[in-house]
Amino acid sequence: MNTPAARGVAATNLVQAYASGRRLWGKPDTFHAVDRVSLTIAEGETLGIVGESGSGKSTLGRMIAGIETPTSGTVTFWGQHYARVGTPEWRRQRRHVQVVFQNPAAVVDPRWSIHAQVREALTTHEQLVPSEADDRAQAMLAMVGLAAMGKRLPHQLSGGQLQRAVIARALVLNPRLVVCDEAVSALDVSVQAQIINLLLELRERLDLSLMFISHDLSVVRHISHRVGVMHAGELLEIGDSGTLFDNPQHAYTQRLLAAIPADSPRQRRLRDINAFSGHAASHTPVQS
Ligand SMILES: Nc1ncnc2c1ncn2[C@@H]1O[C@H](COP(=O)(O)OP(=O)(O)OP(=O)(O)O)[C@@H](O)[C@H]1O
Ligand SMILES: [Mg+2]
Repeated sequence: MNTPAARGVAATNLVQAYASGRRLWGKPDTFHAVDRVSLTIAEGETLGIVGESGSGKSTLGRMIAGIETPTSGTVTFWGQHYARVGTPEWRRQRRHVQVVFQNPAAVVDPRWSIHAQVREALTTHEQLVPSEADDRAQAMLAMVGLAAMGKRLPHQLSGGQLQRAVIARALVLNPRLVVCDEAVSALDVSVQAQIINLLLELRERLDLSLMFISHDLSVVRHISHRVGVMHAGELLEIGDSGTLFDNPQHAYTQRLLAAIPADSPRQRRLRDINAFSGHAASHTPVQS
């Protein structure tokens, strides 16, 4: 199945059923956290995912990233199925897909310098002479603006710096897909904008595919080529970012969009920083 058309991710009819905690006729009852979702993410494309809390965004992201096996449905990743979670083949596949979560402190080792952690990600997957591993880790830290901070321990960095270190650790393996699950949500607005600009820059430089999950619609609009709207486990609509935001088809999407303030401080800040750095997504930038 390794045809050129297979460059990217394709999900077909994904379902994730969890136990609801209730019992029905003596059997545990289940509900569908994700219900028959089909989507694609092309090489170099950013797909934003929005939807209210509990709508299934993270569950969908974990299945797309291959860290959770769907109850039914399939994911093909550059033409191949993911191996069963935890198998040696699955561990080999891990280098091609990375996940960045909201809380960087929870995913780093507090005892190791950030250089050591970036380096370790690399040496887990590649046989390298020590000097080459050091050089590549250092180059990656420089790319995220932490060139002078490699020796620091996680607690010696700010939240934004630590998230940059986590992004460096995710990207040092040159993955094809990065799933960002509320990756900037916990950060101060100006730091959010810096990290988003960093992702936009790395996306261009490394031709990354991104799945960008966020409850922040203005950020999603800014970064995404296409956007999908989740509601109660289903993908209600999916389409080109500009079209979806300007002309939402579904009443739920219209209500979701109506909740964005017309000109929030965050939108103004993003616009200012873009004007300053010359970055823009490939669609119409955030409107005031
Ligand atoms: N491991 C699990 N076991 C049982 N139920 C789960 C599990 N993970 C998620 N759920 C449930 O599945 C539904 C979807 O959860 P999910 O975390 O995907 O939502 P979300 O859209 O990411 O929400 P949020 O915006 O709050 O992060 C929720 O009802 C949640 O309680
Ligand atoms: Mg979530």
